[in-house]
Amino acid sequence: MKVITIGNEKGGVGKTTTATTIAAGLAHKGHRVLMIDADAQGHATRALGLNKQPALYNWLVRSANYQEVLQAVPVERYGGPEGATNFYLVASNVETRNIANSISDAYAVADVLTPLESLFDYVVIDTSPTPSLLHGAIYLATDYMIYPTLCEYWSFDGLAESLSRRQQVQHMHKVVTAGIIPYRVRLQTLEHSENLARLREQFQELVWEPIPESIVWAEATAYHVPVFVYAPDHAAVDSVWSMVARVEALPEVARES
Ligand SMILES: Nc1ncnc2c1ncn2[C@@H]1O[C@H](COP(=O)(O)OP(=O)(O)OP(=O)(O)O)[C@@H](O)[C@H]1O
Ligand SMILES: [Mg+2]
Repeated sequence: MKVITIGNEKGGVGKTTTATTIAAGLAHKGHRVLMIDADAQGHATRALGLNKQPALYNWLVRSANYQEVLQAVPVERYGGPEGATNFYLVASNVETRNIANSISDAYAVADVLTPLESLFDYVVIDTSPTPSLLHGAIYLATDYMIYPTLCEYWSFDGLAESLSRRQQVQHMHKVVTAGIIPYRVRLQTLEHSENLARLREQFQELVWEPIPESIVWAEATAYHVPVFVYAPDHAAVDSVWSMVARVEALPEVARES
């Protein structure tokens, strides 16, 4: 089981889009996937067409069993094989905001994931832009981080903040940065092409293929399905499969227990 967390302390940079698209893409390919919505906005929950509810709160704070909090994502939401139930969600709602004040154990997230080790191939966690103790507990359960960013000044600032905060817990648990994904890129603009060059200079091969700005992403969000279900023939779908292939190529991490 690989735990992949999507983060960036800047809002609106493509975290939820990345998290739900990668999770649904992995499930589409037949992997057993658990999506955890760790943002009180519940956008990942809604993006998959499910209702906001305090599932993550109940799991972490009220010690509910995983059987009570995991919800199967209907197969038509991710175009999986007929009859498949290989994609589950732990939903979120406003209660998620109270989790940070209610858990005292830094390993709370790691602990609830332990019994799921043999049940899932991937856990994908969507996070909120506002740092909290919940983020800390998520890092301690994470193998790989993926950072979506816009090719804009303040987004790079959010990225720098996220990376340096993570550095602070690196001594407790090693997390590998799997990639940085430039979102909503308009390469025909000087600002975006210069910023992309800066990003590549600083982070080199960690920078994945940029995702061009396209209305199809927002439309898919509005229809509560991943872009490859909404518009299977659109060029954006190539970006999805290259992201998913990168995630599949990440090596399994030996977990210390
Ligand atoms: N390549 C793209 N082109 C155009 N719009 C996009 C693209 N990628 C994402 N979007 C849209 O941008 C908006 C913000 O994306 P998203 O919700 O994924 O960001 P976020 O980082 O999760 O935001 P928050 O910090 O609020 O959680 C969404 O409406 C999404 O549909
Ligand atoms: Mg989001």
